[in-house]
Amino acid sequence: MKVYTEKQEIIVAIDAFKEKNQTLGLVPTMGALHKGHLALVKKALKNNDKVVVSIFVNPTQFDNKEDLVKYPRTLERDVELLSSINKDAILVYAPSVDDIYEGNTVSETFEFDGLEFEMEGKFRTGHFDGVGTIIKRLFSIINPDNAYFGEKDFQQLAIIKKLVEKHHIPVTIVPCPISREASGLAMSSRNTRLKPAYKEAAPFIYKTLTTAKAHFGTKSANKVSQWVEKQFESHNLLKLEYFIIADASTLKTINRKTKNKKYRAFIAVYADDVRLIDNIALN
Ligand code: PAF
Repeated sequence: MKVYTEKQEIIVAIDAFKEKNQTLGLVPTMGALHKGHLALVKKALKNNDKVVVSIFVNPTQFDNKEDLVKYPRTLERDVELLSSINKDAILVYAPSVDDIYEGNTVSETFEFDGLEFEMEGKFRTGHFDGVGTIIKRLFSIINPDNAYFGEKDFQQLAIIKKLVEKHHIPVTIVPCPISREASGLAMSSRNTRLKPAYKEAAPFIYKTLTTAKAHFGTKSANKVSQWVEKQFESHNLLKLEYFIIADASTLKTINRKTKNKKYRAFIAVYADDVRLIDNIALN
């Protein structure tokens, strides 16, 4: 399988596919691939002639230097995993920071109609400017017909849809359901950093989300939030950063339920120094 490290090279390959009217899918990743990523790649392979998987730990989306340094980097294994799915239809783009940022590793500033100020935007300064910057650059280099994103990063997905709409980028964004371990823990590259006791404790996050969903049927949003906060107060390994019930389209926290609206619960938890996020549709 071909691994491209320079944009000029992959652009030549992509131009050749486009001349043959082949369709192109993009699965943007930061590597340390797990079954969740592979599910995105498999879906992309079903709907496109060729699929580019980008593997790039994007420095501008990290507000925490230590998180950036510790982010797992496993390119050789990632390429092996992708080869085991399909050697011919997948192209890997694993650029250097310089290939993407050309000596100026800074984010563009974006406006995402307020989506960027909720949840992750409050706790990770500049994160979505970094995500917007890398995704806009990848779209411009790869020029995909379809791009695949997991719903685990639901806010990121909403922001990328907004980016595409506001910048008139001709790509279809395909949302993909959250992949979970048998324990219910949402798959994440960060899970590999969990020490055994924390790995064992982490499924509590999804268990709490599913019980919160059941409570949401009969209780107010505030009562459900209080209940969740209480569950974590008494937990000796997991530290709750936030639990929020929000309107699924504006991502604004709700105080009251309104008929015909879609709601979602979002959670961020520290398991030692590993930050885990998850979310669930409530109705
Ligand atoms: O979700 C991720 O892995 C990253 O935020 C993404 C979309 C690849 C951008 O760097």
